[in-house]
Amino acid sequence: MNAPNAAPELFTWEFASDPYPAYAWLRENSPVHRTKLPSGVEAWLVTRYADARQALADSRLSKNPEHHAEDAQGKSKTGIPGERSANLMTHLLNIDPPDHTRLRRLVSKAFTPRRVAEFAPRVQELADDLIDGFASQGRADLIHDFAFPLPIYAICDLLGVPPEDQDDFRDWAGMMIRHGGGPRGGVARSVKKIRGYLAELIHRKRNEPGDDLISGLIRASDHGEHLTENEAAAMCFVLLFAGFETTINLIGNGVYALLGNPEQRARLQASIEGGERELLDTGIEELLRYDGPVELATWRFATEPLTIGGQSIAAGDPVLVVLAAADRDPARFAEPDTLDLSRRDNQHLGYGHGIHYCLGAPLARLEGTTAIETLLRRLPDLSLSGDPADLRWRGGLIMRGLRTLPVEFTPH
Ligand code: HEM
Repeated sequence: MNAPNAAPELFTWEFASDPYPAYAWLRENSPVHRTKLPSGVEAWLVTRYADARQALADSRLSKNPEHHAEDAQGKSKTGIPGERSANLMTHLLNIDPPDHTRLRRLVSKAFTPRRVAEFAPRVQELADDLIDGFASQGRADLIHDFAFPLPIYAICDLLGVPPEDQDDFRDWAGMMIRHGGGPRGGVARSVKKIRGYLAELIHRKRNEPGDDLISGLIRASDHGEHLTENEAAAMCFVLLFAGFETTINLIGNGVYALLGNPEQRARLQASIEGGERELLDTGIEELLRYDGPVELATWRFATEPLTIGGQSIAAGDPVLVVLAAADRDPARFAEPDTLDLSRRDNQHLGYGHGIHYCLGAPLARLEGTTAIETLLRRLPDLSLSGDPADLRWRGGLIMRGLRTLPVEFTPH
């Protein structure tokens, strides 16, 4: 037990199942809080909405891990162990302008809202096929059977990974997630496999371009400049890992929040049955704010001495913006601990803010709304199976998501 005014213990199993009381304490008592992470690295946690928003857009906070004062051992601090050794470091989340501006402009030419909109029927088909796979059983693990395969097959299709290779991708991605907070060997091996595969696929698409995103990335040019092969591989990799576990968690955390708030769920279900769209659209944003997939924004490092929320930060110090805490800040959101699917004043930070704002937000919205709409429409009496206290959350630092979500429903 903590003394009433002592800082709460962070990063324990208890904290992982419900971090929000600890974040409320930090927002109130130590809004820019220095802590030792489970890895032993010391970092500042920023928990108030106004400070978080400012920090996310502060150009003195670099995304390049070379600015980390303690990064002497050459270990990657981005949460994807093995990434540096596999030479996939030159991706958007690890670089600053002007390189970031150049790469983001190039990828934006290929990964357009139109490409995402055209992909809607395929996402619907994937959601229906996955539900067909377990609908007759009356029970399922929604993470394993639905939330996990949906985004991996979706991103593979979008990138242009041939169907016969997609199960390999699914296995490698599963390894990355299972071992994300644990032994590093498995992750490093998966990253290496993905790297080798992507290099070969990019090479193939260069010779035989198609209508897919990889071919689009290769074709994209800005003032005569193209992505190098290494940049293209790193771009595919960041699209894969930034778009995969996040979407699993959006579906998993979202469905879990709905099952725990029967009144809100009933409203959403009625609106879906009535063929309305509005509550689904505001609702998906509220699910992101209420219990979003990305608990902490990715690493930032002070390039010079600076102040956040009155706290001095030394050059080289790592800063982690706690999106989950900022999005429950009562100074910004009315009744922040209440799930209100029709909330309109909802400028949450679930997709970040500033130049690193989520590139995949339109795809995430498409996948999230399709998944939740299809589940509630096709399995209207979906309910949690077993005791919620038995649910376990995955242990990584950046992401927040359930390991399993057992549910039951009338089979058909
Ligand atoms: C619900 C799902 C998602 C959530 C909550 C989410 C959240 C975020 C957040 C918070 C950031 C900013 C991180 C930071 O500043 O430290 C980000 C960046 C990014 N996201 Fe997403 N994301 C989601 C889905 C996706 C998808 C589906 C893709 C692509 C397939 C994607 C691709 C990216 C990329 C490439 C970046 C880096 C952008 C940059 O640095 O310029 N995300 N995302």
